[in-house]
Order: sequence, then C-alpha cells, then structure tokens
Amino acid sequence: MDKLVAAEAWTRADLLGLEHLSAEEITLILDTAEQLKTMTGGCAGKLDLLRGATIANLFFENSTRTRTSFSLAARRLGADTIDFSSSGSSLSKGETFIDTAKNIEAMNVDAIVVRHRTPGTPHLLAQNVECCVVNAGDGAHEHPTQGLLDIMTIREQRGQIEGLTVALVGDIAHSRTARSNIWGLQKLGAHVIVCGPSTLVSRHWEKLGVEVAYSLDAILPRCDVLNLLRIQFERQLMRPFPSVREYALLYAMNGERMTRAKKNILIMAPGPINRGAEITPEVADGPHSVILHQVTNGLAIRMAVLWLTYCAANTGASQ
Ligand code: CP
Repeated sequence: MDKLVAAEAWTRADLLGLEHLSAEEITLILDTAEQLKTMTGGCAGKLDLLRGATIANLFFENSTRTRTSFSLAARRLGADTIDFSSSGSSLSKGETFIDTAKNIEAMNVDAIVVRHRTPGTPHLLAQNVECCVVNAGDGAHEHPTQGLLDIMTIREQRGQIEGLTVALVGDIAHSRTARSNIWGLQKLGAHVIVCGPSTLVSRHWEKLGVEVAYSLDAILPRCDVLNLLRIQFERQLMRPFPSVREYALLYAMNGERMTRAKKNILIMAPGPINRGAEITPEVADGPHSVILHQVTNGLAIRMAVLWLTYCAANTGASQ
C-alpha cells in the first residue's frame, strides 16, 4: 500500500471548522482525500487503515448524505460504527447532551461525529470528551466536511482553486455550508461572491472578504462556479420572500440562464436540492452539474478526516 501523503503533518485530533485551518492544512486534507479515493478505486473499495477503531455518529438533526457517508467512510477504512439518533434515545428521559456523548465515548469510541442545531455544540463536546470530535454541521455556523468536499470537487474539475470566481447563491444567512465554503475557498485564493435577496444576504458579509451581490443575472457572466444553496425554511422565523415562484424568477439556475453563463461553468449544490426553487431539473441533471460528484467526494473527504484526526490522536498510526 502507498504511504499516505504526509499524514504526520496533521496535528489536530478534532475537526471543528475551516475558519481556523491554514491553506496548508486544507490542502493536506484535499490531497489525502484524493489519494484515498484512488486507493479505494473511486471510494468503492476497502482499506484497513482504521481496523480496530470505532466511530460514533451522533446526529441530532436529520441527514441523508452526511450521516450515511461518514458511516460508509468509516467502514471503507475498516472501522466499526455506531449510529445514534436523538429520536428514540434516552434524551427523552432527561439525559443531557454531554452525558449522552460521554456514555457513547465510554464504549471505547475513537471519534464522535456530531450534527446539532446549536452552533458551537462540537466545540463544547471537544472540551468534554477525550476522543476525536468531527463537526458534521452545527446550526448555521459551519459544515466543514461539506466545504471540503465542495472545494475538492472544484479542484478536481478545474485543477486549482486560485483565481476562480465562485458564487454561493441563495439562503446565505442560514447556511453553514456558505460559511465553510467562504473560509476554505478564500484561503486557497478564490474570489467568493454571496448572492441572494437582501433578506438573506446582509452587507455585513463583506467583513468576511466576500463580494455581496443581489442580482444573479448581473454576476452570472463572471462566475466559474455556482453553488446553489437550499432555502432553509426550517431555520427561518419569517418567510424572506413572498413566494418560492418569485424567488425562482430571480435566483433559480435554469436553462435560459445557462445560455448566459460561461461555457465551462460548474453547477454545484450541497443537497438536498429543491427542484424548481434554486435549480431546475434540466440544470440539476445537465452536463454542467457535478452534484453527484460532490456526494462521491464526500466519502473521500470523510475518509481523509477520520484518518487524519485518528493519526493525530494516536501518534505513529500514520507511519
Ligand atoms: N449536504 C448535507 O449536509 O446533506 P444532509 O443534510 O442530507 O446530510
């Protein structure tokens, strides 16, 4: 088996977000994910890197892609997995979040992957358990493995991130994916635009170094990549626009807008997608769409993150 790229250079036993990672650390995860994707024949095969380890998924919010791909990534690397859902658990009997996590950890768990509606939950958990903690989405704060898989997909398709113009379109205000993309893409040299209705995109985002835009049609000809974010009605107190139909008129990527985009534009979406809201079926299923490539790369990124954090927590495991 090939030796994985410089895993010994990774020193963090937790992955809580991309905000505080360096460009070199992000690149190391991307390189490791690419190598693991190759070594597993496109994420289809198995390796023994985490044989004997146990990974626990603690999901306190719904998930299809993140939960299944963390679980599969762990098993692709030979680890055992525990899948915990808040529904049906003893949380309903009054057990606290931290007590729940500590009891799971006491089953000799090496890493806890956590999704929670409250921002900062993974950080709180990391202060209270000894095992590795990986953030699988905390409220509207960060979704680091989503940001990484998006960046991996762009790099895979375009060869580099530096110099590209990437627009995040839609519900920026409630999007953890937006934040992780912004931190990661800017560190690697992309120009990032956030675009959507003013009720969902505040001028304050300029403080993060991004361009703020309110007209998709105005920015479209400059974009190398569009990442179309879902309108997260479940996180909104009030409807930010009169109807989905009016939102779609201004911000949905459709066949007509594709004729005004760059010839090699990449169409991305973190999923789940709402066909007819942020994207039409002809675009979601069209030749520029890499939405399902993102899902496959999610497996590679999650294998890389589980492996690197495990190595950092168990010095010498990467040798
Ligand atoms: N993109 C994403 O996080 O999808 P899930 O909510 O299905 O995990």
